Amino acid sequence: MAQIGFIGTGEIATAMVRGLTGKGHRILVSERNAETARGLAAEFGEVSVGPNQDVLDNSDIVFLCLLKSVAESVLPGLRFRPDHSVVSVMVDVTYGALRDWCAPARDICTTIPLPFIAEGNCPLPVFPESQALASLFAADNLILPQSTEQALNAHFAASAMASAVMTQMREASGWLAGETGNETAAEAYMIALFSGIFNGLDAGKPDQFEGALQSLSTEGGLNATLRAKFEQGGVLDLVQDGLDGFRGRLGLPPSGNSDS
Ligand SMILES: NC(=O)c1ccc[n+]([C@@H]2O[C@H](COP(=O)([O-])OP(=O)(O)OC[C@H]3O[C@@H](n4cnc5c(N)ncnc54)[C@H](OP(=O)(O)O)[C@@H]3O)[C@@H](O)[C@H]2O)c1
Repeated sequence: MAQIGFIGTGEIATAMVRGLTGKGHRILVSERNAETARGLAAEFGEVSVGPNQDVLDNSDIVFLCLLKSVAESVLPGLRFRPDHSVVSVMVDVTYGALRDWCAPARDICTTIPLPFIAEGNCPLPVFPESQALASLFAADNLILPQSTEQALNAHFAASAMASAVMTQMREASGWLAGETGNETAAEAYMIALFSGIFNGLDAGKPDQFEGALQSLSTEGGLNATLRAKFEQGGVLDLVQDGLDGFRGRLGLPPSGNSDS
């Protein structure tokens, strides 16, 4: 069982702590955010709270869950050990910067959890491959090692689709509720609809989206009609443009020039 530390106790740290509790680990979280840290310690006997340096001094595996602007001012002032395993979840932070800030620690990786890691089944792209991350999360989640920092950063971009897709589902749910008068039932229908569709897909096998779309392509059918309207209205171009728009920020090569 591991001694695990969290520097930064916000949204994503809370979800990861929830995913790690009940497994015999000792978890130490930093005292900011104080209310969240106290809440986690009150809820879970294995969680305690301390200053940032105490978190490092009493942990073997350390998760960095800060905003980049905070990380660059806080991390250089902390004393890491050579035997620390460090897992960053921070977007916009280069691997080179992490190595500088966390020296003399050398076992360093970046991964991309999402809040539902609290319940498991979260895909975790990671660069470079990390034994520490796998030891804690592989049993309940899908670890996806990436061979380059660029490939990892492309996953950061793709992960932003979550709220873009969710917004469309909320919109459709609201439209349905406007027709039926029952908001909760409308949302329940949309959730069940998409859970069923995604449960029917086999992640890891090729052409899953293409196969599902073909089965939803009856000529003149409602799905084919709405999909054509989206395509004509430029929704797919927006997806491409939106993801391409992250290239500069995430250090990805110009469009059509990817090595990853
Ligand atoms: N949220 C997500 O779904 C998600 C997913 C993947 C990756 N990430 C990454 O995770 C990182 C954190 O995101 P988040 O959404 O969890 O943000 P957040 O909720 O704002 O958490 C940041 C935490 O850092 C704390 N903090 C500020 N100054 C600190 C200091 N000097 N020492 C220790 N802790 C300090 C904040 O405390 P106060 O509240 O007191 O300021 C807060 O608890 C970001 O780099 C983000 O890119 C987030």
